[in-house]
Amino acid sequence: MLMWNACHTRNADKKALIGERLFSDVQLSWNHTRSCASCHDPSMAFTDGYRTSVSPSGEMLLHNAPSLLHVSKMKVFDWANPKAKNLAQQLQRPLYGTHPLELGLHLHWPKFLSTIRDDSVYHSLLLQTYGQIPPSTDSLWVVDCLVAYINTLQSGVSPFDRFLKGDSSALSQDALAGYKLFCSDSLACISCHGGPDFSNATLTENHDSIYFNTGLYFTSAGTYPPNDAGLRMYTQQSQDDGKFRVPSLRNVMRTAPYMHDGSMSSVEDVIRHYSRGGRLIEKGPNQGDGRFHPFKSKYLSGFSLSRKQELQLIAFLNHLNDQNNESFAPRNN
Ligand code: HEC
Ligand code: HEC
Repeated sequence: MLMWNACHTRNADKKALIGERLFSDVQLSWNHTRSCASCHDPSMAFTDGYRTSVSPSGEMLLHNAPSLLHVSKMKVFDWANPKAKNLAQQLQRPLYGTHPLELGLHLHWPKFLSTIRDDSVYHSLLLQTYGQIPPSTDSLWVVDCLVAYINTLQSGVSPFDRFLKGDSSALSQDALAGYKLFCSDSLACISCHGGPDFSNATLTENHDSIYFNTGLYFTSAGTYPPNDAGLRMYTQQSQDDGKFRVPSLRNVMRTAPYMHDGSMSSVEDVIRHYSRGGRLIEKGPNQGDGRFHPFKSKYLSGFSLSRKQELQLIAFLNHLNDQNNESFAPRNN
């Protein structure tokens, strides 16, 4: 089963083809250095491997780049931005965001448009799709095409999917034991990483079910680091301190480092953090024990796993890797 491939090479709608080309086109950025794919690299399940991404001007962004696979199923976007209700709204930030400056398309729009008009591939795709080259007053097609492309980024061809479809040999004994741990009352991973894509944020918009404080920080101010306090930055409510959207766990073994700020390097670190019931930071500006954060989720009271069980849980997570990943590499058209 190669859904992604099929939709890509045969039935792909024209907008998605334009979107795919725009996605890896550095002309999008004001200084022609970065494209969407610089931070969402198809060969890394659409992440970039950095703790936090680097903007075209070399500035560190606040957050780790999330995978874009399955993002079309999310009900809210980014790590903790409840305002973007659909992908078109979300894309305003990478394209036009100024704090910090991201791709800065507004800064060089006329030049970008003339590059597009001079490019024979864009030219013919735009003519076929819109019947004309969009006028310079219209930039909506850029978002329109990028959204069409992002919507094609679905796969669901991991060994775990094969297992769910009845192929009992698709999971090893260890992975099956790991899946049981994942769903167990003491670990409760599934309470937040629920649904077919392992994130409640694909199932509901209810903030109480999708944004959680996982006890990563409890600084001397009694909060997460004040410049990056999750949902609280938007709602100004103290009980939203440190709440971030539950990420999908599909392809998680390919998307290190982890958490909203990339502050954990391995899945083992993440599991140990959960088993402790919060993270202890012994020195530095964020010193403190996240375990005692008053708004940490009630699901995260800690647990103990043997090394064998830890490896079983990791074996399960390993089975969430898509197997057609090579087809994510961008095509040179
Ligand atoms: C400089 C690196 C960078 C570039 C360039 C970039 N992104 Fe992102 N992207 C990120 C980061 C970091 C986030 C998470 C932002 C946050 O939560 O604060 C993100 C989030 C997203 C999301 C939401 C993902 C989710 O799980 O909700 C989408 C969709 C997205 N980017 C698409 C794009 C597209 C399309 C482009 C090109 C127009 C692009 N990005 C350019 C780094 C980047
Ligand atoms: C209370 C809800 C909740 C529970 C229970 C939970 N998680 Fe999470 N998980 C989250 C949230 C929220 C994040 C993002 C936190 C952040 O970045 O601040 C996350 C992040 C992760 C990440 C990092 C993913 C990435 O792309 O950065 C992994 C891996 C993970 N969880 C696995 C697990 C496992 C395994 C369990 C069970 C032991 C579990 N989670 C239990 C809510 C939860």
